[in-house]
Amino acid sequence: MNNKLSPSILSADFAALGEQLAKIERSGAHYVHIDVMDGHFVPNITIGPLVIKSLRKRSKLIFDVHLMIENPWKYVQDFAEAGADIINFHIEAVKNPEALIDVIKRCGKQAAVTIKPETEIDAILPLINRVGMILIMSVNPGFGGQGLIPEALNKARRLRAYMRENNLSVDIEMDGGINLQNVKTVLDSGVNVIVAGSAIFGGEKSIEENTREFLRIMGR
Ligand code: DX5
Ligand code: ZN
Repeated sequence: MNNKLSPSILSADFAALGEQLAKIERSGAHYVHIDVMDGHFVPNITIGPLVIKSLRKRSKLIFDVHLMIENPWKYVQDFAEAGADIINFHIEAVKNPEALIDVIKRCGKQAAVTIKPETEIDAILPLINRVGMILIMSVNPGFGGQGLIPEALNKARRLRAYMRENNLSVDIEMDGGINLQNVKTVLDSGVNVIVAGSAIFGGEKSIEENTREFLRIMGR
């Protein structure tokens, strides 16, 4: 299973999004992680389909859209049309996840399902064979720059072991608190898609150097 890097633009300079996307793309990132927050599901508010539509014209990166919104049903079509490639929604936000996964797939997009730190992996086990990716939150969603909650690594280990036992193989993404010091441990837990926001856009070195250093450790 290939490792992939998905820099999160939550920590980018929002006045220079186009240029910053070009920097991660040039440096070899596979995805760009786009955090959509509505001020209801999480306390913060970020961006919506209009910004994604503008960015789509500037970038060939795979758009990994993480919906932290109360009503994903209402907006998945808009995000699909705006240029999302992967649409992640929170299991905590919907009653009938199977049906929403079908809607995302009918839009021609990859569906992914996300769990918050307080949600056990049992909640998503029945969905594994319907999605391309499971996203395990390793911080409480809403803000960048928090510390990784170690229990998230145990969840990834259990989820990877469950997949192995059941001959299933989908991407496991982890989001929150990942940096150059702990990314190896995260990969060792069975995660293969790494989200990093502040460690890439707010790190000590340049965006390009931080991206390349992540990719080096990830063997890409
Ligand atoms: C948090 C977001 C994350 C965030 C991660 O709710 O889902 O994608 O950007 O930021 P860092 O990598 O700084 O923890
Ligand atoms: Zn995210």
